[in-house]
Amino acid sequence: MERVSIIGAGKIGGSLVARLSATGNFDLTVSDVHEEQLKRFAEGYDVATTTSNEEAAEGSGLILLAVKPWDVGRVLDEISPAIKGGEKAVVSVAAGVPISAIEGRLPGGAAVLRVMPNVCAAVGLGSAVVAANEPGGTYLPEVMGIFRHVGDVVELPERLFDAATALHGSGPAYVALFADALIQAGVREGIPRDVARRLVNGTIGGTAVLLKERAPHQIRDEVMTPGGTTAAAFVAMEKAGFVAAVYDGIEAATEQARRLAE
Ligand SMILES: NC(=O)c1ccc[n+]([C@@H]2O[C@H](COP(=O)([O-])OP(=O)(O)OC[C@H]3O[C@@H](n4cnc5c(N)ncnc54)[C@H](OP(=O)(O)O)[C@@H]3O)[C@@H](O)[C@H]2O)c1
Repeated sequence: MERVSIIGAGKIGGSLVARLSATGNFDLTVSDVHEEQLKRFAEGYDVATTTSNEEAAEGSGLILLAVKPWDVGRVLDEISPAIKGGEKAVVSVAAGVPISAIEGRLPGGAAVLRVMPNVCAAVGLGSAVVAANEPGGTYLPEVMGIFRHVGDVVELPERLFDAATALHGSGPAYVALFADALIQAGVREGIPRDVARRLVNGTIGGTAVLLKERAPHQIRDEVMTPGGTTAAAFVAMEKAGFVAAVYDGIEAATEQARRLAE
């Protein structure tokens, strides 16, 4: 069994614990600063728990950091004594924390990988990108295998991580914002809220399946009858700057990810 430690049992770390433990292929240790958070995992899953990050790092070959970006430095200082050269790999999912910053706090030659997942991992439909330093390259298949348990994984050069963070890391929140706007718009036109929510959820879920088979413009053309309702909506949305707002949002999030790295 693969020995993996997950430091930080929050939204991303917790999703990984739940999914990986269900496979029965991993010997998992989870550490967090919150005892009550750990109790939930100790009782619900077949995992070892500890409040000592160093102990978690000592016990596994693969150490996954799932704490907020500003907590990464402190955790690395705690686990650094347990990392020897390329014998263990450290995998970080923190937004805006570059591989070079992680290497700088670990012994020379440490294997470091960076992954940008998203919260859809909680339902096994996550998207993730992964990059590695040179020693970390040998761990790529193993790490990609781990994240495949919670969704799709693709290798991406680290220089594109800030953009990917903006695109799919924050992505579920944009889709949720759009869903909420659609529901409110339906309510404004007189549709009962619960019916509007059901129709919008079904529409987004169904469109996500269609998008696996065809390009977005094909779906648009299938729906948009010349002179019809969809065309009228597109003109109104475009006049309000819908597409430009999406470009601006992704640019702002990419810049914010860069600022986090400074
Ligand atoms: N959430 C997302 O959608 C998303 C998407 C992509 C990437 N990420 C990245 O994933 C990482 C985790 O995000 P998250 O949303 O899962 O965060 P989260 O829900 O806040 O989980 C982090 C957990 O780690 C705990 N923690 C804090 N300091 C610690 C320490 N020194 N040792 C051990 N545990 C510690 C936190 O406790 P406290 O609550 O007391 O701090 C919390 O329980 C972040 O770096 C983020 O950039 C998140």
